[in-house]
Amino acid sequence: MSVKIKSAREIELMTEAGRILGEVHDLLGKELRVGMSTADIDHLGEEIIRSFGCTPSFLGYNGYPASICVSINEEVVHGIPDRNRVIREGDLVSLDAGVIYKGYHSDAARTHILGEADEKVRRLVEVTKQCFFEGMRYAKEGYHLYDISRAIGTYAEYFGYGVVRELVGHGIGTKLHEDPQIPNFAMRRRGPKLKAGMTLAVEPMINLGKPDVVWKADGWTVVTRDRKPSAHYENTILITEDEPKILTLPGKEET
Ligand code: MF3
Ligand code: CO
Repeated sequence: MSVKIKSAREIELMTEAGRILGEVHDLLGKELRVGMSTADIDHLGEEIIRSFGCTPSFLGYNGYPASICVSINEEVVHGIPDRNRVIREGDLVSLDAGVIYKGYHSDAARTHILGEADEKVRRLVEVTKQCFFEGMRYAKEGYHLYDISRAIGTYAEYFGYGVVRELVGHGIGTKLHEDPQIPNFAMRRRGPKLKAGMTLAVEPMINLGKPDVVWKADGWTVVTRDRKPSAHYENTILITEDEPKILTLPGKEET
């Protein structure tokens, strides 16, 4: 495993790729409505990405047929947009997107709830986001990669949630997926040392029920085995000597 350290110029480009994707998510999130199909969401997302002069990185990635992954309720990640799949009141909707700006990637996911939903589902979405920020407490020089993993996993498990094992976060840069892999659960070791200039996509995928997932027959859509809801929250970050820079959340103070 070799984790790239980005140069100052590369960090500039990744910062811009991240800033744009943060804005893409904000714009797309505001347009979400009950009654839209998941294909409508994909088309709108692709249009917004291209309006910034970027390319949607998921389109064609290992044959993936769309620009946005739209995963509803028991779908964990990689839901394929479909014009016959319509968003309903109370749905939990995870949107995952990636853009390429001048050859550099950013990757981020947000989970939205449409209208009135179960308190249990709202809580899952909030805690999944907080899992990411728990990880950020260890995302700096002086800590090791799996310190982030442990912080995410132990926080989720404290609430009794299932942490997905089969899918992990990743390094990111000139490729969507670079070394290292970033589990969302405690490992036996602390893993590689974190160094300033590493760019990582940290992405907790947290289930209301058991951690187990299965793949649907389309070869992409990952669903919980117990068919209980699942949430996803992801940002592309830059490791520094001090606090991490959350590239896909520019100018926002989050907790
Ligand atoms: N954000 C997803 C990941 O890191 C990327 C999905 S690739 C796609 O795994 F092809 F499914 F879109
Ligand atoms: Co990712």
